[in-house]
Amino acid sequence: MLRAAVLVSGGGTNLQAILDAVRSGKITNTEISLVLSNNPGAYALKRAENAGVPHEVLSPDSFPDRASFERALTERMQAENPDLIVLAGFLVKIPAEMIRAFRGRIINIHPSLIPSFCGRGFYGLKVHEAALKRGVKVSGATVHIVDENLDSGPILLQKAVEVKPGDTPEILQRRIMEQAEWVLLPSAIDGIANGRIPYGEAAFAEAE
Ligand code: GAR
Repeated sequence: MLRAAVLVSGGGTNLQAILDAVRSGKITNTEISLVLSNNPGAYALKRAENAGVPHEVLSPDSFPDRASFERALTERMQAENPDLIVLAGFLVKIPAEMIRAFRGRIINIHPSLIPSFCGRGFYGLKVHEAALKRGVKVSGATVHIVDENLDSGPILLQKAVEVKPGDTPEILQRRIMEQAEWVLLPSAIDGIANGRIPYGEAAFAEAE
């Protein structure tokens, strides 16, 4: 049984897709052992509560500086010791120490086709604003392993989504969530839990 922790910052629709998939059996062999948010106001916490999943807040505001927050986050994850950490709209740069401690065992969903519209400053609606500004006809989402650099680790799954005339960032975001993100992230977790998708050290071996 794969024990997964899900890290969130906002609305938590990707978390909901995961919880629904565990309940319906689209994700098997997996237990969501913890939902953790850096943002006390995240609606994702309510979704975890409704599903009866342990959930907690670790807010940077409760720490004197960034380094203490990063240490606390890493230590909390080490104490939890999940097999997999899922970043589902977690808008915190993962500390290098935590990446080392969970090498190949942290996955992230990004709302574009990496390597387009990713890296520093590209998160949430900003990604879709940039895609529309550039005039791309196709965008999508990517699930990847998290490494030392932003949005740069091995790609596990990608799905393309059509950009339509008249799209606003909000409309495009919603279409990419519905058609790509909410499908890809549960599918990646199920693939990892059932040995179809390599993770840990094997994720890097595969990519080289
Ligand atoms: C999602 O679109 C996710 O792909 C994005 O934030 C949103 C969170 O929505 N993540 C990033 O931009 C990471 N760089 P949610 O809280 O409803 O799942």
